[in-house]
Amino acid sequence: MVRIAPSILSADFSRLGEEIKEAEKAGADLIHIDVMDGHFVPNLTIGPPVVKAVRKVTGLPLDVHLMIENPDGFVEDFVKAGADLITIHAEASLHLDRSVNYIRECGVKAGVSLNPSTPLNVLDFVLSEVDMVLLMSVNPGFGGQKFIPQTMDKIRMLKDIIQRKGIKADIEVDGGVNTDNAGEVAAAGADIMVMGSAFFNSKDYSAVVKTIREKCG
Ligand code: DX5
Ligand code: ZN
Repeated sequence: MVRIAPSILSADFSRLGEEIKEAEKAGADLIHIDVMDGHFVPNLTIGPPVVKAVRKVTGLPLDVHLMIENPDGFVEDFVKAGADLITIHAEASLHLDRSVNYIRECGVKAGVSLNPSTPLNVLDFVLSEVDMVLLMSVNPGFGGQKFIPQTMDKIRMLKDIIQRKGIKADIEVDGGVNTDNAGEVAAAGADIMVMGSAFFNSKDYSAVVKTIREKCG
């Protein structure tokens, strides 16, 4: 069954605790937290203190997506704040194997994210070490963008590699996922779908979850 990870980037920050509780009640599986540094992506968002606050209001796994340069320097802070899974960008890490292993040594799951134009082969020699691959289906930096259609092939290709090699890594798809394209995203091979605007801009979070479950199984 596909897992749903609402991205709090599109939540009402003035009521963040309630928004997260409502997402949990609606049936969300993880809480996706977008961390941006104004360097790796042209936007600034949130850091460890917010993750710590989020940790207090939900028992769901916290899926922390670091869109930052030099991610290694912040891993420990996010682990202490309560992250369960930390994803770094392959494009932001000079020593990806080291970074992935470091995240795992810190006691949490490790994910690697690829921008839309980054080829899958950067994962060739690290895929067996990662818990999750996050495929960006928009150029990272903002919520509410349009799904880049070429991502569908990328998801299928990655699923094929993972199955052929018998690797355990989950595939997470992030950006522009909504109730219209979720069925196709799941059929292509996504295990986890991030939903920001399509989730938090809807009036009824339970209805979004229900529609996704119907379309994706
Ligand atoms: C984009 C972020 C996404 C984004 C998803 O840089 O990584 O998680 O918030 O938002 P939507 O679903 O609105 O594209
Ligand atoms: Zn994200």
